[in-house]
Amino acid sequence: MNKPIKLGVVGTGRFAQAFIPLFQAHPWVSSVAVADLLPERRQQTAERFGITGVYASMEEMLGSDIDAIAIFAQRHLHGPLSVKALQAGKHVYCAVPMASSIEEMEAIIAEVAKSGLVYMTGETSYYYPCTVYNRQRYSAGDFGHFVYGEAQYLHDMSHGFYESFQHSGGTDWKKVAGFPPMYYPTHSVSMILSATGARATHVSCLGYKDRHEDGIFQAGGNLWDNAFSNETALMRTSDGGMCRFNEFRRVGWSGKASVYLSMYGTLGSYEEHAGSSIWTSLQKGNVEDLSDLLACQTATVTKEDNELFGSLRKDLNHGVSKVHPVSRLPQSFAGLRNGHFGSHQFLADDFVKAAVTGKQPPNHAWAAAKYCVPGLIAHESAMRDGEMLPIPDLGEVPASFELLNPEEVQANQIL
Ligand SMILES: NC(=O)c1ccc[n+]([C@@H]2O[C@H](COP(=O)([O-])OP(=O)(O)OC[C@H]3O[C@@H](n4cnc5c(N)ncnc54)[C@H](O)[C@@H]3O)[C@@H](O)[C@H]2O)c1
Repeated sequence: MNKPIKLGVVGTGRFAQAFIPLFQAHPWVSSVAVADLLPERRQQTAERFGITGVYASMEEMLGSDIDAIAIFAQRHLHGPLSVKALQAGKHVYCAVPMASSIEEMEAIIAEVAKSGLVYMTGETSYYYPCTVYNRQRYSAGDFGHFVYGEAQYLHDMSHGFYESFQHSGGTDWKKVAGFPPMYYPTHSVSMILSATGARATHVSCLGYKDRHEDGIFQAGGNLWDNAFSNETALMRTSDGGMCRFNEFRRVGWSGKASVYLSMYGTLGSYEEHAGSSIWTSLQKGNVEDLSDLLACQTATVTKEDNELFGSLRKDLNHGVSKVHPVSRLPQSFAGLRNGHFGSHQFLADDFVKAAVTGKQPPNHAWAAAKYCVPGLIAHESAMRDGEMLPIPDLGEVPASFELLNPEEVQANQIL
């Protein structure tokens, strides 16, 4: 019989602060514990949210009777931490990216395939209004055949990244801040692939050699010997389509969002720019302005938000749009903070429903690899000056696994 889960949050930095209240409010979560390597940080978080289960590391937490772990550690640690948690028999939610090597992703998939545990990548773009809208229209056949898509994550280092990397990086923060842009490709790649269901099969990518005086992106300046601060990839997809992805970390850009999507099909297309979102189709004169439909409610950023979330605060003042299926969320989420264009509440709900029912969520391990592997190969291509490279296929979720449709599962009553 399904029963509520005990959930442990790993990493009590900034991003986790936005998810802890959601996990606590979910009717199918019986308790929330926290772990952080930094004693002061974990204590402060525990006091803030009235949490009594406090651990000095994820490793220590894994020895407890907690059922599920939600990882919010720094991005380059995700793969090894996820594998360890799965090996300890815990369901795993992990903030993006899934991992920073193919071997780590294969290891996560192998653990899930062997154990049947739930793994979920916390991809915020999956629940952006434009992605929700395009997924619906693609599955309704309105695009026809997918032809071409373009998506980008444009986020200059000076827009909060210095602060983010310094927050946990100590004196060596630049070594992690120089993470290759295409090692964090999932915000852009997932928007298109989660709509079409295809995978990227080949990639050619070019890199922009950084010139900034901070020396973050330069040979010898970071753990990856990476000199590129901006990367542009052209990919072939398994449905015969083409995509262009931009991952930029030095760019003069201040649009309403840092993540953008356009998709073109043989019958219809969605096009997005800094100030507009439209649907158009073969029918002459058919141009629908989607600005109102896809706009998210905004919340005020308070003084407390500044202290809690630092540079993340602006990403956390988005509520839902008209295309978000809010009726599937627990009623206990009403009035709680959302974030990243309405996505947080849906991600938290997906994971809890998956862990309780034992069904794989939409963003399971195989989907996560589809969002992440192409970027790793893209960076390899950029280092070979754009050579077209094949992208390994880490496979599909096994037919014997049950898949969760979060919209069909009502979490509004106590189990
Ligand atoms: N839109 C998005 O999807 C989005 C937005 C922001 C951040 N993120 C991701 O969320 C993650 C966290 O970001 P953040 O800004 O909160 O980071 P942060 O640096 O503020 O916090 C990370 C915390 O993890 C802790 N930690 C590391 N290893 C641990 C271990 N073994 N056990 C226990 N604690 C451990 C660190 O001590 C630190 O306090 C990052 O990976 C980032 O990529 C995603």
